[in-house]
Amino acid sequence: MQNKTVSSMICGIGAAVPERILTNADLAKMVDTTDQWIHERTGMKVRHIVDDKVQNSDLSAQAAKKALDDAQMTAEEIDTIIVATVTGDVRFPATACYVQEKIGAVNAAAFDISAACSGFLFGLRIADAFIASGKSKNVLIIGCEILSRIVDWKDRATCVLFGDAAGAAIVGPANNDGRGVLGTFIKTDGRLTQLLWAPGGGTRFPAEVALSENMNSIKMKGQEVFKAAVTAMGDAAVHILEETGITPDEIDLLIPHQANIRIINATARRLKMPMEKVFVNVQDYGNTSAASIPLALTEARQKGILKDGDICVMVAFGGGFTWASAAVRF
Ligand code: UT7
Repeated sequence: MQNKTVSSMICGIGAAVPERILTNADLAKMVDTTDQWIHERTGMKVRHIVDDKVQNSDLSAQAAKKALDDAQMTAEEIDTIIVATVTGDVRFPATACYVQEKIGAVNAAAFDISAACSGFLFGLRIADAFIASGKSKNVLIIGCEILSRIVDWKDRATCVLFGDAAGAAIVGPANNDGRGVLGTFIKTDGRLTQLLWAPGGGTRFPAEVALSENMNSIKMKGQEVFKAAVTAMGDAAVHILEETGITPDEIDLLIPHQANIRIINATARRLKMPMEKVFVNVQDYGNTSAASIPLALTEARQKGILKDGDICVMVAFGGGFTWASAAVRF
């Protein structure tokens, strides 16, 4: 590993998951699918779905409070809140504003970013840069999605894939004990926007038009997205290793975006990583988009799989297309 200046570190993490579970068997009663098809093609068994009145900012605030507790910090100490999401409470203002109010982070500037499933890692790069430049001290990043509100529950090709969740991290200045954000990488290819998108509600398909043209839900060309995800996640992983000088042997834990077990396996193969070092929870939550990585991080820590001093590499891919990676020593 190269000896580079480390500016920021992750000082606390937390996640929030709705209690209600939707199983593959439940889905088989709703659309023409089977437990066997879903499990074999995706690795998924269950996903969690919010109750009707729960908003993105509610789940986000729950995860944020847990991350603050983990970091032993108060909300007043946070100066920047970034919510990565494509399913915000309203079109504007930013969901981060509602989160600020709900957790009482009165000293923070708050804004959202939209990078789909790569959103949390885009947020980590922003936090690291803000802290490195001295513009921020303590940044709260949240990845949260309530995808159950924007899936087409009649489309078996997409409705079986997604779940709701939030994950949060507090990023603060590194304290020169070796822990910290060792590198970040983000990338986009805007030529491929229509392979995975939720067109409704913006300027192209305003709400009423979106309803009449059936554009109000997630649209995905699964196979094309699958192929792009395999290539891009592998590329992002290789890139972060080259940039930081970390070798695959030095990685203690690989946390890939949890979209499909076959994509996760392909990413591990590209790095020649044994699956014992790859965190997988897609079976329990489905694809939770921007929440996927911070949720996995939190679970890995709670289960003792991610330990102090470990080097963790995180890799994501999502609509845009966007892809990203980061290496962090915990
Ligand atoms: O998080 C952002 C990134 N997102 C992703 O990475 C998702 C990437 N894509 C995928 O994970 C996979 O493409 C899917 C899981 C979405 C689909 O798996 P696949 O192996 O690519 O299946 P397919 O789309 O090629 O469909 C194969 C067959 C089709 O039937 P025919 O045409 O062969 O008769 C589909 O109609 O499976 C059918 N099918 C289903 N059958 C039962 C599609 N969805 C279902 C379903 N249950 N839920």
